[in-house]
Parts: sequence; structure tokens; C-alpha cells
Amino acid sequence: MTQSPVVESIDSVDTEETPVGGPATAAGPTRADSPAVIRTQGLTKRFAGGQLAVDGLDLTVPRGSVFGFLGPNGSGKTTTIRMLMGLIAPTSGVATVLGASMPQSVGSVLPRVGALIEGPALYGFLSGRDNLVRYDCADPTADPRTRARRVSEALDRVGLTAAAGKKARAYSLGMKQRLGLAAALLQPRELLVLDEPTNGLDPQGMREIRALIRELAGEGTTVFLSSHLLDEIEQVCTHAAVMSKGRLLVQGTVRELAARAQGRLVVRTPDAARAAEVLAARGVSDIRVAESRVDGEPATAGDDPLPGLCAALVEAGVRVSGFGVERGTLEDAFVALTGEGFDVAG
Ligand SMILES: Nc1ncnc2c1ncn2[C@@H]1O[C@H](COP(=O)(O)OP(=O)(O)OP(=O)(O)O)[C@@H](O)[C@H]1O
Ligand SMILES: [Mg+2]
Repeated sequence: MTQSPVVESIDSVDTEETPVGGPATAAGPTRADSPAVIRTQGLTKRFAGGQLAVDGLDLTVPRGSVFGFLGPNGSGKTTTIRMLMGLIAPTSGVATVLGASMPQSVGSVLPRVGALIEGPALYGFLSGRDNLVRYDCADPTADPRTRARRVSEALDRVGLTAAAGKKARAYSLGMKQRLGLAAALLQPRELLVLDEPTNGLDPQGMREIRALIRELAGEGTTVFLSSHLLDEIEQVCTHAAVMSKGRLLVQGTVRELAARAQGRLVVRTPDAARAAEVLAARGVSDIRVAESRVDGEPATAGDDPLPGLCAALVEAGVRVSGFGVERGTLEDAFVALTGEGFDVAG
């Protein structure tokens, strides 16, 4: 998987002490004095039925990052987001958002945050545009004189201008998702919290939303988004945290996380079977042989094994048309971390 240039360009800034956002936005100064936009310590939620949905979560979201909150179904992503937004109280632990404790500070924090949480609340009998007008009216800080322009711009940003007059009940899942996102974008925000923002979108819609997220990040907005799609996180995020069964497995920059996955040696050759024998004799494990291609895990101990492996292939008369190491993906990292595939139930 190739990383996007956006990820490459801002990935080098990987400490939480450094603001990675752009210049100050209309939402206010960048507040470089408070590097973490979201921080949780021991955040825990046990539901009344006894379900431990989030278990001792310590999360740090650096200012200016596009932070992917990753985990399979039921791993506690939405529950965490609901606690961050003050919609439910934690059983124990603390959460600060934009430097203030939640849920105690909802009144001062939420106006600075745009949020899209599972299944946005919409009035089916109103058009998409009128739903946004309602959202805007409910915001005491929103100037009524500029309302129509704000609504039109938000519709345009999410690609809903043509469907703006249609009743929301006639919207597809993806259109409802776009409308929820538009509601979060009515005002410039310091922080956007998006729970599975591409849920229900087709591939083209997903690309559009990813582009929009990059654009918002470029304007200096910190974006915290949940997803169960590793691929998506890898394409759009600078940082990620991986959840499994309510617990945090790891967090860091996407580059660091992907680097945990050791690259696989890939040899392209018309003599695949012979190449596999030579590599096996040289300590390469987990060898897979396909037509004109062999790949495997080179031994990690000692010096770089690649030059020796290449020489051994040539000495054995193996015709080599390609030799290299494929970069590990986030998915490889996840498998390495958990010892299992990503599609596990929470
Ligand atoms: N209101 C609730 N009462 C009891 N249990 C709940 C409640 N909400 C969530 N849970 C449980 O908490 C766990 C975490 O759920 P959560 O919705 O946070 O997961 P998720 O990571 O957002 O999953 P998905 O990818 O499917 O959206 C699940 O086992 C779920 O059944
Ligand atoms: Mg969820």
C-alpha cells in the first residue's frame, strides 16, 4: 500500500509536544500551549448490564493530527466517543477535550467541536437543507444573517448541493452520513470527532470524504475519526490507536505502527521452487511460492540478511528478475500485535 503524500508530509512530526496543525483558523488561535486535544486516563465504561465496553483507556490525540481510532465491531469506539462528547458518563477515569474535563465542561467544549456520531439525528420530513438550517438555528453562536450561506457551503463541501431539496427520509445511508457531516461543518471547529464517517458511502464517496478530511486538516482542524477499515486509516491518518475488546492495544504515528510490521522479502523469478529451497536453507521462514514469485520472512537476528540471500540465489543458478522487501501495512502490524486477523468480534 502506498501512503498518501499528505501522510508523508506531516508524519515527521510525531511527538505530542509539537503542534502539527496549520496556521490559526477562524475557529481561533492554534493554542500551541495545549498540545493534546484529547487526553484520557484510565477511561472506563461498564454498562448497567455489566458489559465492560471501555477498559482503562489512556489516549493522547495531538493537536493538528488526523487521528484514526481503529478497532473491530464492538471494540468500544463509539462508547469512547460518547464519553468524550459528554453524552454518557464514564464509570471511572478522566477525559479532557480541548483542555477541559468532560462531561463537566460540555457547555464550553461542545461549541468548539464538530461531531458526527453513529446515525445522525435528522428530521425525515424536512429537506436536507432545512435539516441543516435547524441545526444552525440551534446554535446560539450562529449569526442568522449568514445562515443561508453557511448551510449552502456545508452542503457543497459534502457533495449534497444537488440533493439538498430532497426530504431526508428519502436519503440513502450514504447521503444521511454526508448530511450529518455537513452539520458538523457548519462552523469552523478546532476539533472534529467523526464516528465512522465513511459508513454507508460508496468508493467514490469514501474518496471524497477522505479528501475533505485532508482539506480540513490542512486548515488546522484536528480530526479524530473512528473506523474499522485499516486501509482507510492508513490513507488519511497521521496517527492511530488500535482498540480490541475495550482495551487500547497501541497508539502512535501511522508510520511507526506500520513499521512494526516487518517487511516481507519478495523474489520474482521463473525458478520459484528452486528459489524457495535456497531461501529456506538460509533461514527464511513462512515461505509462500506462487508462479514467478516467492515471498517469506527473512531472519531478523544478526546483520542485514538480504545481500547474502541475493548472492545465494545467484550462486544456486536461480534467475532473479526482482528482489526486495515489501513495506509492512497497518494490517500486518495489527496481525503482528494481536496474533489474529482484524475481523474479530469484540
Ligand atoms: N448502551 C449500551 N448498553 C450495554 N452495552 C452496550 C451499550 N452500548 C454499547 N454496548 C456494548 O459495548 C461494547 C462496545 O460497543 P461500541 O458501540 O462502543 O463498539 P464500536 O467499537 O463502536 O463498534 P462498531 O464498530 O460496531 O460501531 C459492545 O460489546 C456493545 O455491545
Ligand atoms: Mg461504533
